[in-house]
Amino acid sequence: MSAIIGFAGKGGTGKTTVASLVISWLVKNKKTPILAIDADPNSTLAETLGLKDDKGIVQIVDEFSREKETLPTGLSKERFFEQKIQELLNETDGFDLLSMGRPEGPGCYCYINNVLRGIMERLTKSYMYTVIDNEAGMEHLSRRTARAINVLFIISDETPVGIRSARRICDLVKELEIKIKSTYLIVNRNKNTSEEMTKEIKNSKLKLAGTIPEDEQIYKLSAEGKPVSELRDESPAKKAIDNICKSFIDGI
Ligand SMILES: Nc1ncnc2c1ncn2[C@@H]1O[C@H](COP(=O)(O)OP(=O)(O)OP(=O)(O)O)[C@@H](O)[C@H]1O
Ligand SMILES: [Mg+2]
Repeated sequence: MSAIIGFAGKGGTGKTTVASLVISWLVKNKKTPILAIDADPNSTLAETLGLKDDKGIVQIVDEFSREKETLPTGLSKERFFEQKIQELLNETDGFDLLSMGRPEGPGCYCYINNVLRGIMERLTKSYMYTVIDNEAGMEHLSRRTARAINVLFIISDETPVGIRSARRICDLVKELEIKIKSTYLIVNRNKNTSEEMTKEIKNSKLKLAGTIPEDEQIYKLSAEGKPVSELRDESPAKKAIDNICKSFIDGI
């Protein structure tokens, strides 16, 4: 079995934090092997997971086009990039991390995106879980990483405006060439479950997977540049993530 879990949401809502905590949960519960994909060009997933931010796939593609590297004879472009991607994989004890990277120029990636999608599809099949941390827009998700997603979590803050924006993201995602089996809302940094919030969620028709409380310790860890996996077990946010994972990830 191999399942793909994606995270989307407007800027700063907590996609990277929640994705990292879900990865920690998967590692702790031995749901391995796990592939973490950083699909946000400005992302901090590596740091949030306590890893070094290495080169991404886009850099490999750029180097290849700039240096007009010639393919070793008998090696197709697809096979060539497949090997390069294997070398890029940042392998740790619990999971492997792959960064999509930041494009430096306005180059055309259409061809390469198609090649990448094929490679990524094969790659993700060799993992039990793939967790994709997306940028606020969903372009990379549709173009490079996956054609199908088992569970997409849309992260929102607790404000009515935030929840309406999560609804729009959900509609936008439906227009992409990507099959998503289930989509859920997660309200993050929740301080107080107001009547307005409950009403807005009901109006949005989004299925709520859970709320994650505002947790001083998460903020402290990120301010100190420490990985969020250091969050203590008694942290209320960690408990909330545990419940979400048990209900919506375990067994998909
Ligand atoms: N439940 C929480 N309690 C306290 N702080 C939180 C919580 N969730 C996230 N944060 C903090 O909020 C900030 C933004 O979180 P994060 O980087 O995960 O958001 P993001 O959606 O990935 O942002 P971007 O759109 O820039 O990628 C970080 O400093 C993080 O530590
Ligand atoms: Mg992020």
